[in-house]
Amino acid sequence: MCGIVGYIGKRDSQDILLEGLKKLEYRGYDSAGIAVFTKEGLQISKSKGRLAVLEDKLKGEPLAGSVGIGHTRWATHGKPSDLNSHPHTDNSAKFSVVHNGIVENYLDLKDELAAKGHVFVSETDTEVISHLVADEYDGNIVEAVQRAVARMRGAFALGVLTEFEPEKLVAVRFASPLVIGIGDGENFIGSDIPAILEHTRNVYILNDGEMAVLTCNAVELMTIEGATISKEIFHVDWDLVTAEKAGFDHFMLKEIYEQPKAYRDTMLGRVSDDGKSVDLKELSMSDEYIKSINRVHIVACGTAYHAGLVGKSVIESLARISVENDVASEYRYRSPIITPQTLVIVVSQSGETADTLAALREAQRNGARVLAITNVVGSSVAREADDVITTWAGPEIAVASTKAYSSQLIAFYLLGLHLARVLGTQEPAAMEELITGLNALPEQVEKILEQAVVLKQVAESISHHRSLFFIGRGVDYAVAQEGSLKLKEISYIHSEAYAAGELKHGTLALIEEGVPVIALVTQETLYEKTLSNIKEVKARGAHVLAVANSGFEGEVAKSVDEIFAIPKTLPILSPALAVIPLQLLSYYASLALGHDVDKPRNLAKSVTVE
Ligand code: G6P
Repeated sequence: MCGIVGYIGKRDSQDILLEGLKKLEYRGYDSAGIAVFTKEGLQISKSKGRLAVLEDKLKGEPLAGSVGIGHTRWATHGKPSDLNSHPHTDNSAKFSVVHNGIVENYLDLKDELAAKGHVFVSETDTEVISHLVADEYDGNIVEAVQRAVARMRGAFALGVLTEFEPEKLVAVRFASPLVIGIGDGENFIGSDIPAILEHTRNVYILNDGEMAVLTCNAVELMTIEGATISKEIFHVDWDLVTAEKAGFDHFMLKEIYEQPKAYRDTMLGRVSDDGKSVDLKELSMSDEYIKSINRVHIVACGTAYHAGLVGKSVIESLARISVENDVASEYRYRSPIITPQTLVIVVSQSGETADTLAALREAQRNGARVLAITNVVGSSVAREADDVITTWAGPEIAVASTKAYSSQLIAFYLLGLHLARVLGTQEPAAMEELITGLNALPEQVEKILEQAVVLKQVAESISHHRSLFFIGRGVDYAVAQEGSLKLKEISYIHSEAYAAGELKHGTLALIEEGVPVIALVTQETLYEKTLSNIKEVKARGAHVLAVANSGFEGEVAKSVDEIFAIPKTLPILSPALAVIPLQLLSYYASLALGHDVDKPRNLAKSVTVE
């Protein structure tokens, strides 16, 4: 997804912009560029491809100057190309704009501006913004931007420069994140905190409809209508080092190994000292409200959606409330039945996913209370939800989500136990047993990670296949779906996840000699049924790897080709363990195939467009 960085100060801006953009690389991008005020005026350098391509270009023709904006683009309007890259400018080349998001009415604006004589060179909506600002300009850049923004519909974060007022950098946030970094004699903008963290820990987090005018020595905050506002400075207390690889070859592997810590951190302070109950004190919802809930909707995208599938089983079994799962991009358009008695849970690692945010707003518009499970404090989802359970997984850099997913599972267990306590749906002994099981998970994950080398070998053999299947029943099916997605994302091997009992209704036709099938067998009440399904695929020549609970590992081993045993735990908690070998399998398969594990093709970490 696109990234923005901007600098205004006394230092040379080129390297500050490039370094800032590098910190945003994890978001995914296909081209990059910068604009700097040089002695010759506002100059732009941009190119398709990785930042290294731009760096090479700048080595030959550096842009010297102490004010600039930079951008990494993830194509939406128009293919990745030099021309479509940001920053964009107008025909006078006196204005320059970087933009994240989408301007929905850009074609209407483009037609109107073209009729006035503006000539466009790219396919992007962003170029229209630079022309629009130029068109609105009559000597005051702040007012020109305000007038331009008032005419734009959609989602955008902007950084704007004009040669006419080189002492100013204008920033706007409208439904796309943007932060302002406050320095000493210098100031910054960034679409994400890591972009500027090297220079300052003091930031203003802009809300939707707010803008900032930066000079070297001041930051003026206002609404996009021009009303002055004041804000508290947010002090960032986490370190960039936590966002570095810490000795691992890839961020993904590092993040897989961080899961025991992420589990512990997410549980910290939420389980009572006597270990007998869970109290999510951060929730403002009253017990009366909880007792009035008659249905839960869990809405999310991608991996977070898969966490929600486990969440459904957790809430239904522990709190006995009916739960529906929705993919966020579908939720609004299916006219869901939402009432004040519906608790809508949105799950989002980044807290910035456009579809999830839109679902949250739709739920609130319909009078529902929204509870967010997110990993990013201060994210849009966290700020707009009525209640938040933060997963303390720390920054997740690899595009393929691992520790964020598994911490979301922990959040669901905690929520399920919290609801069960209020509703009295579980016997005290059962609650205690669950909490004991929860507390044991971090150490059990450590045990699984010690066996990683076994999975490396399995992954290498899987990597030669073009297609494979994941099967499971109940929560195993939910985990199978996440395992399949993980494999697709980073190894590009086709795979499908199937409810084990459903396979024979069509998909079994695809099983032939040697096709790998990964079977999840962790549920005591279902394992005999799953074993029957394993026999169905074995009879057609499949090569089966089972991920099984060590409680019945012996039985399962008789029916499969390979087995990976996970430590014994309660059935509902098994996803928090069973997913780990699947993450490792995907990682090693991607590695064996020589892919860019942390930045898979076509994907972005944070998807802030619908
Ligand atoms: C993108 C990422 C996925 C992620 C999904 C939802 O597609 O590549 O890994 O699961 O967005 O992101 P969120 O930040 O809302 O959890």
